[in-house]
Amino acid sequence: MKKGLLIFSSIAAGVGTAAGGISYLKKNNICPRCEVKKAVSKLQRNYVNETPYNNGTCLTPPMGWSSWNCFRNKINENVILDIAKAVKESGLAEAGYVYVNIDDCWQSSMRDENGKLQGDLGTFPHGIKWLVNEVNSFGLKLGIYSSNGTLTCEDLPASLNNERIDADTFAEWGVEYFKYDYCHNVALPSAAPYIDSVVISGNGIDEDLIYKASDAALSGEAKAVVEDNGNSYVKGLCSGIGTVTFNNIEVPKDGKYVFTIVMKKYDSDAKYCVATVNGTDKYEILIPENKAFSRDGRHQIIITLKEGNNIISLTNPVGSEMDSAAILYERMGKELKRATKEYAEKNNCDEKKIVFSICEWGKNRPWKWGGSAGNIWRTTPDIFPNWASIAGIYEVNVRLNKYARPGAFNDPDMLEVGNGKLTYEENKSHFTLWAMMAAPLILGNDIRTFIKPDGTVDKDSKILKILTNRDIIAIDQDELGIQCSRVKNNVLTDVLVKPLSNNEVALCFFNKGLGKANMSYTVEEICNLTSVTLPKASKYICKELWSGETIETDNVISAQVPSHGVAVWRISAQTE
Ligand code: GLA
Repeated sequence: MKKGLLIFSSIAAGVGTAAGGISYLKKNNICPRCEVKKAVSKLQRNYVNETPYNNGTCLTPPMGWSSWNCFRNKINENVILDIAKAVKESGLAEAGYVYVNIDDCWQSSMRDENGKLQGDLGTFPHGIKWLVNEVNSFGLKLGIYSSNGTLTCEDLPASLNNERIDADTFAEWGVEYFKYDYCHNVALPSAAPYIDSVVISGNGIDEDLIYKASDAALSGEAKAVVEDNGNSYVKGLCSGIGTVTFNNIEVPKDGKYVFTIVMKKYDSDAKYCVATVNGTDKYEILIPENKAFSRDGRHQIIITLKEGNNIISLTNPVGSEMDSAAILYERMGKELKRATKEYAEKNNCDEKKIVFSICEWGKNRPWKWGGSAGNIWRTTPDIFPNWASIAGIYEVNVRLNKYARPGAFNDPDMLEVGNGKLTYEENKSHFTLWAMMAAPLILGNDIRTFIKPDGTVDKDSKILKILTNRDIIAIDQDELGIQCSRVKNNVLTDVLVKPLSNNEVALCFFNKGLGKANMSYTVEEICNLTSVTLPKASKYICKELWSGETIETDNVISAQVPSHGVAVWRISAQTE
């Protein structure tokens, strides 16, 4: 074949294939643009809620103790009570540690006859409500744990799809801290149902009100498809790419109605969408996996409508796992707020608000959405009592400073101070870095060791002295709730600055290296930072918070810092 002819025939073949491809896509109703959008949405955050969680707790980072780091699954009510007693007697309670948190393994593998979670029938025989009262009698608050999954990380019953009943149970028990893990999570599907029609019934309506989706308003990639037999449906509501809106849903009076989605079945996968009623009320609709024996299926929920016209839109906001995580944590957060409020109203007592601790290990960038779903969010995988783990977690968490604020903090995990083979300097540094990062100070060591056999407090314990250093705690608990900025990062030495109330500032030198480091920084450099309000002055008072030594400077602050050690000052301007 001549060269020209060869080129011509391959172009013709190409056009032919493309044409065939286009007719294939058309025939099968495949929208290439939608496929691209779906693929992009898998990689990003599509669901955005900017409303802060704001439940009135955690205006400063929470302080307390948790059973996980030192006891793992070996817990029982006596251990928890002994710890609570020791928290009180050792002076930790007075220093601000108020939560006694039971981590995984408190639950029985059976829910009770009403479907409620219950304490392990062998190790927590008096039940959790009793334990709450006991812990409260020490002036402390009890925290509890579950997972945003079908089971916890230790494979015990958990709260996914049981959010309402579990939140009610925790409120009834008087729990005041709730850590919500991510094991056995089942992500919300990004697929949406194909909507044939929606039906409103109940509340005195004689004849069902039926609204065809193909007659409703469509936006984005939502598209009406007419089948050969004349039936129609709307597709393109998946991954946040399209919405169908029913603008004229008329009901005779205010009240609760049955809302039925009639959907065309198209594959066996689970589907999800959210119905938004009159722009504000949201209802989740999760349709389980199905078999396609019939052309269509039904799914029902109860919704509240107002007399006259209502607008209902349907779309699936979930494009990625990040969207799913944000929505599922928000779901639990809302239930906790509702449950504590309702319990207090029904029982005419003070509301015991629950600190909501999100623990999905930083997998879905929770710093982006955690402040709308809860109070604190783990930013990293689990901590271990060794320097590599602590230093690694610090490296991740220190970069996330802009997300912290009162009521919403990054959580680099519970403390390992006093655990493993950490050196004295490492224990001090761990505690200081967490305080500089405005992290929750949840102790993870065996507090009982602070009480000597004769019942007196081991005042010589270096660990207890670290954990009760009021000056360091005050840095963590400063009411501005600002996480430190890393203002210098020289491979082995970091300088951290944390703005404090009263126009003061905390400055920390951190030596990550194996040898001593001579470090210095100036007040001038500190004052140049936008977040700092330290006024210009001729002299500054700098108190080093481990030695207690106070120096005066007009500018330079320097120190020799030991390996894996810190030097940390509280700085104020001297005003005559
Ligand atoms: C996960 C969490 C830990 C702990 C365990 C309990 O690993 O990240 O902090 O709660 O589960 O099983």
